[in-house]
Amino acid sequence: MRTQVAIIGSGPSGLLLGQLLHRAGIDNIILERRTKEYVLSRIRAGVLEEGFVEMMDRAGVGARLHAEGLIHEGFDICFDNVRHRMDLAGLTGGKKVVVYGQTEVTRDLMAAREASGAPTVYEAEDVSLHHFDGTSPKVRYRHAGREHEIECEFIAGCDGFHGVSRQSVPEGAIRTFERVYPFGWLGLLSDTPPVSHELIYVNHPRGFALCSMRSKTRSRYYVQVPLTDDVQQWPDERFWDELRARLDPKTAQQLVTGPSIEKSIAPLRSFVAEPLRFGRLFLAGDAGHIVPPTGAKGLNLAGSDIHYLSTGLIEFYRTGNSSELDAYSARALRRIWLAERFSWWMTHLLHRFPEQGAFADRIQRAELEYLVSSKAAQTSLAENYVGLPF
Ligand code: APR
Ligand code: PHB
Repeated sequence: MRTQVAIIGSGPSGLLLGQLLHRAGIDNIILERRTKEYVLSRIRAGVLEEGFVEMMDRAGVGARLHAEGLIHEGFDICFDNVRHRMDLAGLTGGKKVVVYGQTEVTRDLMAAREASGAPTVYEAEDVSLHHFDGTSPKVRYRHAGREHEIECEFIAGCDGFHGVSRQSVPEGAIRTFERVYPFGWLGLLSDTPPVSHELIYVNHPRGFALCSMRSKTRSRYYVQVPLTDDVQQWPDERFWDELRARLDPKTAQQLVTGPSIEKSIAPLRSFVAEPLRFGRLFLAGDAGHIVPPTGAKGLNLAGSDIHYLSTGLIEFYRTGNSSELDAYSARALRRIWLAERFSWWMTHLLHRFPEQGAFADRIQRAELEYLVSSKAAQTSLAENYVGLPF
């Protein structure tokens, strides 16, 4: 088998890249380890920057997002039982975000790929990457018991944090930066109306909480929990009680509860790999970096990586000029580190760290008080939250 670009992973990064390349007439094959149903069953965040929405339009898959996505012009930060509104649109000259689940983004991209006839191999086992240091890389895998080999011109490693692509790079060629946080987020999805029409991020002595949503009838809530906790320890009733305890009394009273549709614990991590290019292998999305979910940047960063990478590949195939492709790693990393900083900062602003002493407590409180009393501080938060320019 031959293709121009072999894409490893059929998450948002791989699918978006595949779609943009396909529309530019560049052949590509996606290899995905899991089944399509498994990929679509993963529940992840869902706050899209305008830049991400524009990319979905460019990929020809923006229709449902525009019809069903909820436009948000602000969110609340709650501490000391008081909610403070961050007027994103007012602080950024009218920029907004769109609440639309990553699962839906994935579903729309998969549907477009199927309609276009571009190939995806699901349940591709033991994917391995070869000769990407030369001009004719190869990707091998097993499918339905048979071995296959793809000859390609480039490999895009879009296979997430645990994928094979980053692990295929020789140790000495890559440097990684990591911070693992000493807590996780317990998330619950329910078919109940959201407690507020905008998101509420909560700093509480019992720990962080977040009220989010997927639609006007589907809510997504989170509470900070110790990493040692197991979902089994969190029957729905306990979750709702804990969430109520972290909200201000008025919001707690308005909370509508119901049975969970999904409940899971996710650890929080900051991680960056440098560089993002190794010969003819490029890393993009979670394969190259992870942010804690506090700033809602994971999916959006995957989007900006794919913007830079697709632009580079398309220019190379159109003109033979590789300057954009050569700039990919540095360009993507510059924006990644800005989002890493913001996500790290928001995580520190809103969570209780187990080792947090009295001094750190006071500093965190001062930071929150400065934020809610200073337009300059809110502007900084808002311009990062709505997304820095590509
Ligand atoms: N071979 C083939 N596919 C693989 C392999 C492998 N060895 N390892 C992982 N994959 C697949 C996974 O099954 C998954 O479907 O790669 C895909 C990677 O998708 P994501 O983890 O969603 O990563 P990405 O597309 O970069 O999307 C980033 O996802 O985790 C969130 O916060 C993150 O929102 C961000 C987004
Ligand atoms: C979510 O809706 O899942 C969500 C929203 C905002 C975040 C993180 C997660 O910062």
